[in-house]
Amino acid sequence: MVFASGSGSNFQSILNAIDAGKLHANVSGLVVSRSNAGAIQKANSRGIPVYVHTEVDFQNEQVATTVLLEKVADFNADILVLAGYLKKIPVELINRYTGRILNIHPSLLPAYGGKGFYGIKVHEAVLENGESVSGCTVHLVTENYDEGPILAQTTVPVYKHDTPSSLAARVLEQEHILYPATIQKILLQNQ
Ligand code: GRF
Repeated sequence: MVFASGSGSNFQSILNAIDAGKLHANVSGLVVSRSNAGAIQKANSRGIPVYVHTEVDFQNEQVATTVLLEKVADFNADILVLAGYLKKIPVELINRYTGRILNIHPSLLPAYGGKGFYGIKVHEAVLENGESVSGCTVHLVTENYDEGPILAQTTVPVYKHDTPSSLAARVLEQEHILYPATIQKILLQNQ
C-alpha cells in the first residue's frame, strides 16, 4: 500500500511500473493526509481503495493513530510505501511494520535530510552550498526522520545554471525510476 499526499507523481510511477510488468505488485490501498491530494484521482480510476486521514477529524492524536493503524491493517499490505506523505508516521505504525516501510527522499542522504529538509527546501540548500552532485535516496523508515538504513540511491549532476525547480525536476525523474525498481527488490527479498 502507498501513502501519498503531494502531486502523486511517484505513486503514478509505481502504477506505471506495475502496468509495464516491471513491478510485480498490487497496490492494496492509498492513504492521503489531504482530501485534494493528486493521488486520489489516480487511485479512484483504478479502483484502489483510498483512506483520507486528517487528524482534525479526531478528538486527539491517540485516537487518530488508533484509527490509522486499523485502516492500514485492513489494507493487509506486505510493505508500506511512502511517496510524498506530508504527515509524520506515528511511532506505533513504525514499530508494527519495522523494516517494511519505505520512503523516498530527494537528496543523497544522509546529506540534506531531517528536520526542515523537505520539498523545494532540499534543492535550495543543495544549490546554496554549491554542490556539484545531488540525487535521491530510498530508505527504510525508522523513528528519526530520514535516518533509516539506505536501500538505494541515484545521483544527478547539479549545473551552474540550475534553479531549485530545475534541479527538483531532474531528481524527480530519477525518483520515478529508482522507487519502483527498489520496491521490486524489497518485495523479492521479503518473499
Ligand atoms: C518527492 O520529491 C519525494 O522525494 C518526496 O516527496 C516528493 C513527492 O512527490 N518524499 P510526488 O507527490 O510523488 O510528485
